Amino acid sequence: MTIVVTGAAGFVGFHLSAALLKRGETVLGVDNFDPYYSVELKRARAAELARQPGFRLIEADIGQADTVKLIQDAAGEITGIANMAANPGVRASDDRPFDFIASNIGGELCALELARHAGRPVPLVYASTSAVYGASEEMPFSPNDRADRPKSLYGATKRAAELISLSYASRFGIGSTALRFFTVYGPWGRPDMATWKFTKALFEGEKIELYNFGRMTRGFTYVEDTVQAVLLALEKPAAPGEHRTLNVGSAGAETLERYLAVLERAVGRQAEVERVAAHPAEMFDTVADISETERVLGWRPTTTIDVGLPKFVEWYRAFHKL
Ligand SMILES: NC(=O)c1ccc[n+]([C@@H]2O[C@H](COP(=O)([O-])OP(=O)(O)OC[C@H]3O[C@@H](n4cnc5c(N)ncnc54)[C@H](O)[C@@H]3O)[C@@H](O)[C@H]2O)c1
Repeated sequence: MTIVVTGAAGFVGFHLSAALLKRGETVLGVDNFDPYYSVELKRARAAELARQPGFRLIEADIGQADTVKLIQDAAGEITGIANMAANPGVRASDDRPFDFIASNIGGELCALELARHAGRPVPLVYASTSAVYGASEEMPFSPNDRADRPKSLYGATKRAAELISLSYASRFGIGSTALRFFTVYGPWGRPDMATWKFTKALFEGEKIELYNFGRMTRGFTYVEDTVQAVLLALEKPAAPGEHRTLNVGSAGAETLERYLAVLERAVGRQAEVERVAAHPAEMFDTVADISETERVLGWRPTTTIDVGLPKFVEWYRAFHKL
């Protein structure tokens, strides 16, 4: 009786695994420790999880066909699959396009193949992203909107993974849930994301670049709220043959300016800010319509940035012994 969590050494996969273990579940983590950002940080997350008896980790690449068998053999009876592994990042996908295709599309195929050969319906949840909305201008983004104008290869790989999952629903009756995450933040977060970069710059007295001259809004979501959505989607899975697409973002939008102001207060320092143009693949506003998520899963985020950001800063201080 094992729940497979891919990307378990990653930010969201780590928190999800910890939450499942806390509920007494047995978790098989899978991660290839991709070097996109600090492998040391990924090892530290994995070491935290390894301290708990219900956790095992296999180091494997879910973009490889052989990994399906590897996971089947290690897991035994699979009772849930959460595919949180991916090569993330809009800008990073410019530099490693083949890796993004392999991990994000091939990786979802691995999760689907596990479900297909499980012998009975298995709850399958996977991480998609607000980046699938790309150049859509209708705000807030709704899962009922068209999502066929990606602005980045990253967004395109995630949308492709959704379509492949849809094909498995109709062809093999594999039910699955795509959760489109909107900018997740919190303790043990990612060094390539704004929360970490801004906090680091504040502590080190470095200049902070605000893209699109600071004119950006985001549906920032605290990691525990995000994990709660994954847990609910596993508990209330898609029916056989059903593919669900749900937004997981905060109900309100925050400007980058206010986000930075809350961080400044938490760190206790004033930022030196430079307002710069946005990267062409970057989206200016990503605000979520979560009414469908609320209806289907009964999910609503509860943590505001005024509560969540200080928790990140507290963790950052402790982790770096500041
Ligand atoms: N963090 C966010 O704000 C955010 C927003 C939207 C979507 N997402 C999606 O949520 C999921 C989790 O994101 P995250 O922030 O935890 O990213 P992360 O990079 O911290 O975690 C992903 C993990 O997957 C692993 N991985 C990558 N390729 C792999 C492969 N081929 N085989 C096995 N493991 C592999 C990495 O080593 C990493 O530990 C990803 O699918 C990401 O695209 C995240």
